Amino acid sequence: MSGKFITLEGIDGAGKSTQLDTVQRWLEIRGVVVKRTREPGGTVLAEALRPLLLNMSMSPLSEALLVFAGRHDHVTQVIEPALARGEWVLSDRFVDASFAYQGGGRGLSQDILKTLETWVCAGFQPDLTLWFDLDPDIAAQRLARGRQEGDRFEREERTFFERVRAGYEARSHMPRVCRMDAATDPKILAEQVENVLRQAFPSLAGGA
Ligand SMILES: Nc1ncnc2c1ncn2[C@@H]1O[C@H](COP(=O)(O)OP(=O)(O)O)[C@@H](O)[C@H]1O
Ligand SMILES: [Mg+2]
Repeated sequence: MSGKFITLEGIDGAGKSTQLDTVQRWLEIRGVVVKRTREPGGTVLAEALRPLLLNMSMSPLSEALLVFAGRHDHVTQVIEPALARGEWVLSDRFVDASFAYQGGGRGLSQDILKTLETWVCAGFQPDLTLWFDLDPDIAAQRLARGRQEGDRFEREERTFFERVRAGYEARSHMPRVCRMDAATDPKILAEQVENVLRQAFPSLAGGA
């Protein structure tokens, strides 16, 4: 039996890493083998591209081409093989992030992104996407507590993250996408995430 593919989306500071732990734990308690991964990254090639993407200035099209180059490697080398082995794949960001960041944030056309998606993903989509929606000001406050200088995305202004947020919003009509209010207290948010998992995967809901 092939596994399921779950993606977590949202701007930095939205709480993806925190709730990835929730999803992973919920699945592992039910005996599911989990492959946790991320974008940009997830393979040797894509992880090598990641610092270029995060630190080197480049045109929006170059940025998108590099993201999708890494994604092609990620899909073919990691995600599809894991699903075929029956593992469940949890990815910290996937294709929706390109529509949000390269589309909304950088202004790259939907036509270009859809073409790249068709080539690279070839109809392959997540089974479930949790979009952690958060006001960019709150995200910035959370990040300011923990860190030094961010990468070239994190250094963008509020207006950039508003456009990224709108890019995610524009994708949220798809039935696989579930918007989570990321300003919610982390423990309550974790319960909400578990409820979404129960509804999305009823065959696992009763376990443990
Ligand atoms: N629901 C939440 N409410 C308040 N703070 C949160 C919440 N979720 C995560 N945080 C905190 O915000 C920061 C960013 O969370 P993180 O999970 O790393 O976000 P992301 O992976 O989306 O960048 C961390 O310091 C984390 O402890
Ligand atoms: Mg994170």
